[in-house]
Amino acid sequence: MKEEQKQPLFQHHRRRVAAFTRKKFTKPAAYVILLLLSYFFGYLSAPSSNSQYDSPPVGPRIAQNRVTQDTAAADNDHYRFTTQCGAPVPSKLVRQTILDRLFNGTSPYDNFPPAHATTLLRKKKIKGWGSNGAVFENLIRKVQPKTIIEVGTFLGASAIHMAQLASGLGLKTQILCIDDFRGWPGFRDRVRDINMVNGDVLLLYQFMQNVVHENATESVLFVPFSSGSALQQLCEWGVFGDLIEVDAGHDFHSAWSDINRAYKLLRPDGGGVIFGHDYFTSADNKGVRRAVHLFARVHGLRVQIDGQHWVIHSP
Ligand SMILES: C[S@@+](CC[C@H](N)C(=O)[O-])C[C@H]1O[C@@H](n2cnc3c(N)ncnc32)[C@H](O)[C@@H]1O
Ligand SMILES: *[C@@H]1O[C@H](CO)[C@@H](O)[C@H](O)[C@H]1NC(C)=O
Ligand SMILES: *[C@@H]1O[C@H](CO)[C@@H](O)[C@H](O)[C@H]1NC(C)=O
Repeated sequence: MKEEQKQPLFQHHRRRVAAFTRKKFTKPAAYVILLLLSYFFGYLSAPSSNSQYDSPPVGPRIAQNRVTQDTAAADNDHYRFTTQCGAPVPSKLVRQTILDRLFNGTSPYDNFPPAHATTLLRKKKIKGWGSNGAVFENLIRKVQPKTIIEVGTFLGASAIHMAQLASGLGLKTQILCIDDFRGWPGFRDRVRDINMVNGDVLLLYQFMQNVVHENATESVLFVPFSSGSALQQLCEWGVFGDLIEVDAGHDFHSAWSDINRAYKLLRPDGGGVIFGHDYFTSADNKGVRRAVHLFARVHGLRVQIDGQHWVIHSP
């Protein structure tokens, strides 16, 4: 962010220098100086490559970046996510609301697994990325969330970890996992031992099996749709989160959309926290960090870093 902040400052400076040199010098020497100065400031303010992201951060583990409001940017259509959310559903009713709205009032874990899937699932197959980082415990201790919304769940590694942390702290936390449970094209090259039936990769069932195996069916529910439609629907239903994790699509446009929609789902009375993975990993250049920075700048928010994760507190 520091690099981005520098830019307007130097541009401003460059204009002043140019005005100053025009006034004081009329000789050819002035043009040489002007040329050199322009080059110098142009060089400093040019957007550097992504090299600033290539190396891990130095200094304290928790870095803080103050980001200022960019009002001009707010005029742009891409910055508008205007859905008006419904009146907040009380925390105690969140689970029943999801069961009623999505599962005809019954637990989707009842009679799981169905006979046709039993032999296709592994008793437990949990693989995640940075899913046990300290950030989860730090934030759950701090926020004491009644409702957690996770965007991007995969096999449930981070969701189950959060369920265990919450129950260890004596919290009655409902965790809602948004995922289309499709993974991404080619994910089976990286995550083996997941069966496929007629092109269906069984991610939802294996995730459910993991939740059942870890005795977390009371605290973990799922919203098995694309992140855009799921977040929009939760907003309309008035289902808010005290803590929201964003870890779905890592390209800029997916992350941008998810962060904007998810932020609207932080509890309206303030004190909620949104956070996400791949701020400091090899995947960050794909766009997560860019999206986080832009979001923070547009909203005048501060980005904190905890391990590989970014963290933003709602005011
Ligand atoms: C990196 S994995 C999540 C890992 C998980 N948070 C953990 O730590 O174990 C990303 C997940 O996002 C899901 N995903 C990607 N794009 C999505 C979208 N547009 N809507 C819903 N889910 C999506 C994929 O199916 C995948 O399961
Ligand atoms: C939904 O639940 C009702 C009972 O509460 C039942 O009569 C109905 O068949 C169920 N619908 C589906 C699609 O399962
Ligand atoms: C889940 O609960 C069962 C029965 O209470 C117990 O035997 C098992 O060890 C538990 N599993 C985990 C992972 O806690």
